[in-house]
Amino acid sequence: MSNTSRNALVLGASGGLGQAVVAKFLTDPKIDNVIAVSRNPQTEDLSAQWISNSRLIWIEIEDYTEQAMAEVVAQLDDYKGRLCRVAICHGLLHTDHIWPEKRMEDIDGAAMQEIFHANVVVPATWLKLLQKVIAGKLQCRIAVFSARVGSTGDNRLGGWYAYRASKAALNSMLKSFSIEYGRRAKNVKIMAFHPGTTDTDLSKPFQASVPKEQLFAPAFVAEQLVTIMDGLEMDGQLSFLDWNNKPIAW
Ligand SMILES: NC(=O)c1ccc[n+]([C@@H]2O[C@H](COP(=O)([O-])OP(=O)(O)OC[C@H]3O[C@@H](n4cnc5c(N)ncnc54)[C@H](OP(=O)(O)O)[C@@H]3O)[C@@H](O)[C@H]2O)c1
Repeated sequence: MSNTSRNALVLGASGGLGQAVVAKFLTDPKIDNVIAVSRNPQTEDLSAQWISNSRLIWIEIEDYTEQAMAEVVAQLDDYKGRLCRVAICHGLLHTDHIWPEKRMEDIDGAAMQEIFHANVVVPATWLKLLQKVIAGKLQCRIAVFSARVGSTGDNRLGGWYAYRASKAALNSMLKSFSIEYGRRAKNVKIMAFHPGTTDTDLSKPFQASVPKEQLFAPAFVAEQLVTIMDGLEMDGQLSFLDWNNKPIAW
């Protein structure tokens, strides 16, 4: 690993947006290697461009336990001080046994824990473990996928209790991380990012009510994200921005 290389890390890389972000980073001439981490192998769904791309390092993780995550981070030792972009793409809204709550009676503690684990615990654990890899001189911009529904100020409809609260909790965690990174690794900037409604498995069951022009392709959102990340000011503050680079109320 050259000591001037610039590399990108994508966590939760097999989702609709994660894949698109990996693809976008691979076309970025400012980035040497893209490291992708996922529970899933690199699949045939990925375009030939990716599969043949020798700049892509795909790391499979069995599950998102802290121990497994720490083992992945240990594999990143060669990239110490050489990560310039990190995208944390984890997100859970529904599964075969979890559905977003329409009313308070739908709240279920076990489902809430599962959602909080994916949406809060996993991103926070990555940010804790990655500190020693990221800290250094190279400017490192981190985007964590949040959601506008995590905005308390913007909550006009209610419902989706666990998902909303998990994204609000994620944003609160990111604020604390940005303060501590600001003290311990001034080369880091963190952004909570709202992609807009994007055509992925996560939004599939809810797309019927979304006007066509408001349902984005993952590649479009990845393009927006990369442009926004490039322009982020290294001010040590947490930003909460949407796909159009517009700030969102907390
Ligand atoms: N799509 C939208 O309309 C939309 C709107 C607002 C916000 N977002 C946010 O955008 C981000 C990406 O979502 P997406 O649309 O790309 O969804 P997706 O296609 O369903 O991908 C979800 C990602 O989350 C990870 N994940 C799923 N279950 C998990 C679990 N139990 N524990 C840890 N990680 C888990 C997966 O990682 P593996 O690679 O390991 O499977 C996968 O990469 C999420 O944070 C989501 O909340 C999406």
